[in-house]
Amino acid sequence: MPVITYLTTCIFDSGALKQLAGTAKRLGMSRPFIVTDQGIKTAGILGKVEDALGVAPAGVFDETVSNPTEKQVDEATARYKECGADGVIALGGGSSMDLAKAVCLLASHDEPLESYAAITGGAKKIGKVAPLIAIPTTSGTGSEVSVGMIVTMNNGRKETFVSPNLIPATAICDPDLTLGLPPHLTAATGMDAVTHCIEAVLAPSVNPPAEGIGYEGIYRAIGDGWLRKAVKDGSDADARWHMMMASYEGALAFVKGLGGVHALSHAAGRLHEKKLHHGTLNAIFLPHILRFHEGAADAKYARLRQAMGLKPGADLAQAIEELNADIGIPDNLSAIGLTAEDGPGIVDYALKDLAHFGNPKPMSADDYAKVYEIALG
Ligand SMILES: [Fe+2]
Repeated sequence: MPVITYLTTCIFDSGALKQLAGTAKRLGMSRPFIVTDQGIKTAGILGKVEDALGVAPAGVFDETVSNPTEKQVDEATARYKECGADGVIALGGGSSMDLAKAVCLLASHDEPLESYAAITGGAKKIGKVAPLIAIPTTSGTGSEVSVGMIVTMNNGRKETFVSPNLIPATAICDPDLTLGLPPHLTAATGMDAVTHCIEAVLAPSVNPPAEGIGYEGIYRAIGDGWLRKAVKDGSDADARWHMMMASYEGALAFVKGLGGVHALSHAAGRLHEKKLHHGTLNAIFLPHILRFHEGAADAKYARLRQAMGLKPGADLAQAIEELNADIGIPDNLSAIGLTAEDGPGIVDYALKDLAHFGNPKPMSADDYAKVYEIALG
């Protein structure tokens, strides 16, 4: 069983879920609190996790919504405290992971959530939090090994929180848990992983090991064809293994930073009533941001072409558009319900997002507005 320690410990393989009981014991967790969502419960995955745990959890919060809110964080934290839990198991996609991280934070810290936001320097206030085991059921977010979480606050802002203390104590990555994921979610989450790798590579910070992992993730997901294979045949266990690895690699890479694609996706994702998938937004914005940054990072673009299996000088943005088309992702924002009226608000929030600061070439409000207008279709 591969056990990798980079950022945190990750037990990674088909069947890794069997390691859950031993992992909880090792972390001193005898009364775990599970954070998950209704889809995971209905799919029978929560039952599998409870079986693997071997003891009844102290409590379960199974109402996580996509793009978790501050209100949900408060509800789940109250539930955690009521049941006398001594740690959290996050089970699901990025939303359950982020909600679980927020519960761990507020279970051990007294100030309001807002005061820990990265953009206002809150990271330094985040000390040791309740232990967390993360079990992803999608391959995209990488939140199981990442330093960050994102919560939509009561004031409407989508806030990023970053601290090494928010990294789960152990990630259990069992690709078999993704075998039932439908093609559209496999595609959308897969493009989140791809975008993490590409934006991490392009971010101007200097971190060659993280950058190298970004290229590797791109090679695995695109160059080696595993994303297309996973979307085409969801029962392909090898494709599921490789996409979960690409997702893991994306998060290892984005310690370097993200960029304009994520700034825009976070800004659009806060429009809760539109129910937009973060990965789908990334996939649609990605080619346009790649066109904007063309010429600002030539050596990196050349290596990205190599990793994607393209000829020297090939159009990266076009290759992403072709990939999107192959895996069934819409080619414009109008198709997913965004409008020209949404533009100014999205641009405004993008400029305040932490990912905005990872652009290889600075982006102004005007630049974002142009990208948005073109992406609208
Ligand atoms: Fe992402």
